[in-house]
Amino acid sequence: MTQRWDPEAYGRHAGFVPELGRSLIDLLAPRPGERVLDLGCGRGDLAVELARREVRVVGVDGSMAMVEAARRNGIDARWVDAHDLPFREEFDGVLSNAALHWMRRDPDAVIRSVHRALVRGGRFVAEFGGAGNVADIHRALRAEVAARGLDPDRIDPWFFPTAEEYRARLEFGGFEVEHLEIFSRPTPLPTGVEGWLDTFGGAFFAALPEEERRPARDRVIERLVPTRRDAVQGWTADYVRIRFRARRPP
Ligand code: BEZ
Repeated sequence: MTQRWDPEAYGRHAGFVPELGRSLIDLLAPRPGERVLDLGCGRGDLAVELARREVRVVGVDGSMAMVEAARRNGIDARWVDAHDLPFREEFDGVLSNAALHWMRRDPDAVIRSVHRALVRGGRFVAEFGGAGNVADIHRALRAEVAARGLDPDRIDPWFFPTAEEYRARLEFGGFEVEHLEIFSRPTPLPTGVEGWLDTFGGAFFAALPEEERRPARDRVIERLVPTRRDAVQGWTADYVRIRFRARRPP
């Protein structure tokens, strides 16, 4: 069962995601006129910023709803599978924010696909969820579907590698890793964990029979109160990010 995306709800519940990823553009340091692919462009928030800097940007996303939203924002956006990008040595840079952790089927195929899309010397700059990302929420979702008789490994849509693992994958895929870090970013949730689950938890709930979805969501929220809700700050998510810049050798 796949995740369904609603661009409008994404803006309301998770507008902080592109905001917190904006500094990736400085890590990419694009020059006017360069061609950049935004991998997992979503509604195109970062692509719009790239275009503003006179970068020739193409966005790709696996969700048609997001592609349409990016087009409405003026972006040349395409609906394609990141495991098999239809580009050959076309981009000076590939930028990706909060998307690689959704590409769980074959992360090495994604890396090879990005490598092929870049010119020699091209940069791959990204941020995504690393080991321990949203660990409390992830654990609660997995526990809830397991308690209802499903195998969480078959449902779980996310890939949160360690820094060492992802560096090794990039190198195996032919990249030179210039910078790679993993860090914690506890993040307040503007519409609570309810909004977060409604935006991102779909794959877990959709795997359940219709009549179990609402009670399962309520139970996940209950499971999270002791660790993720605070009287002063409200709800926060325990985000952990991997951020890197890698280069296809010249
Ligand atoms: C993230 O941006 O880290 C994330 C978003 C949705 C689900 C899981 C992780």
